[in-house]
Amino acid sequence: METKTRVLKEVSSISEMKAISQSFRKQNLTIGLVPTMGCLHEGHLNLVKKSLKTCDRTVVSIFVNPTQFGPNEDLDTYPRQLQSDIEKLEEVGVNILFHPSKKEMYPKDYKTYIQVQDITEHLCGNSRPNLFKGVSTVVLKLFNIVQPHNAYFGEKDWQQLAVIEALVEDLNLDVVLKRVPIVREADGLAMSSRNRYLSPQERQTALSLSRSLQEARDKIRQGTTSAKTISDSIRQGLSGIEGLEIDYISICDPKDFKKKEQICDRTLIALAVKVGPSRLIDNCIIEEI
Ligand code: PAF
Repeated sequence: METKTRVLKEVSSISEMKAISQSFRKQNLTIGLVPTMGCLHEGHLNLVKKSLKTCDRTVVSIFVNPTQFGPNEDLDTYPRQLQSDIEKLEEVGVNILFHPSKKEMYPKDYKTYIQVQDITEHLCGNSRPNLFKGVSTVVLKLFNIVQPHNAYFGEKDWQQLAVIEALVEDLNLDVVLKRVPIVREADGLAMSSRNRYLSPQERQTALSLSRSLQEARDKIRQGTTSAKTISDSIRQGLSGIEGLEIDYISICDPKDFKKKEQICDRTLIALAVKVGPSRLIDNCIIEEI
């Protein structure tokens, strides 16, 4: 592997980003991409560190992608803190920050969208109908612009990862997806940019997500295999909590997201709730039992 330069270059034009990536490729340098919407936390930095370890050049994109937000969602209030993100990226030694404007990514009269089918009809796809069309579209655009060899995504957004895997496979893209496990705060809360919206009280409430998953795991370990029993007990635990609204509790196949009746082979338990202004998700995988 080639020696790395330690200066962060900021790029906001697509043509410049493409030219840089082409020049990296000409020099046989491997490119790692970490796509983000900014407001970087340890979860993102963990993805970045994986890329820095294995690729010659690491590109982080920061773009709050409007096409993945619904009309009543938090696009306008989504936390933005570019300066402190830049400092974090400089500190870990990222090479390129790609932060295009909305106009650069979606010029007037933009028309093309990507729709991954079937697996987008479950879980978050039900409650956020625009989400995966917007994610697939922007991720394909980022892959075309940055031309990465590897791209890094966190398993907190399990369904998003499955959608991107389908996109890569179905459209024969030459990029290797690297899955990275969820990073949690010391008390179990899965790291998320949306945690910033939470008041101290709401943050306490949000802990019930990881706690419910842990309790479900314990019950399964003790021999419960009925998905309904586990789901009912999660629902019962969460419904009593003031300030928390359940979006979904899903016990399903981790690849096609179809509901399971019995937890006997690899199973995903995925939760989405609203706490105060934040919609939070979390999940865990139960390996074969
Ligand atoms: O997970 C995210 O932050 C976003 O959905 C992504 C992948 C950067 C696309 O906008």
